[in-house]
Amino acid sequence: MRDGPGVRTTQSRNALSLVLSFLLCSPVLALASLALCAESAPARELYQENCAPCHGSQGRGDGPGVGAFPVKPANHTDPLVMRAHTDEYLFKAITEGGTGVGRSPFMPAWGELLTEQQIATLVAYIRSLSASVQQ
Ligand code: HEC
Repeated sequence: MRDGPGVRTTQSRNALSLVLSFLLCSPVLALASLALCAESAPARELYQENCAPCHGSQGRGDGPGVGAFPVKPANHTDPLVMRAHTDEYLFKAITEGGTGVGRSPFMPAWGELLTEQQIATLVAYIRSLSASVQQ
């Protein structure tokens, strides 16, 4: 018996991100801590791959894929917006999509595609985007 295509895709994507984080992290291991690589490189990869097309590579809500959207993707760098949201809200918004939190269905649901661990990583990552913005 072979696994279905969905399972294979997830496995190869996981393998790919492992390889990517190894390639990205190994040259800088002497400079950066292992923990930093384990945390931030996969988060960034995940975000760039799945979220940046709409939310923009910097998280400003200005990705290239949203030209004709009736709703602007959220700007994760705005401290006022981000401070108003709990981590639970962000987790639910990513897992269930816009409709899960009473917002636009143009925000897709990721619960089937990403693991809870990956979504928690993304919540921390988008929080870090507003933390670095001058207020
Ligand atoms: C197809 C485009 C698209 C993609 C891809 C996308 N989003 Fe969104 N996202 C949106 C839109 C549009 C909204 C705004 C919905 C609204 O305001 O009603 C949104 C809203 C959100 C919100 C709610 C923020 C708030 O202020 O209420 C979060 C959190 C979020 N996105 C995170 C993510 C993450 C993390 C990813 C990647 C896993 C992602 N999004 C991928 C379009 C997208």
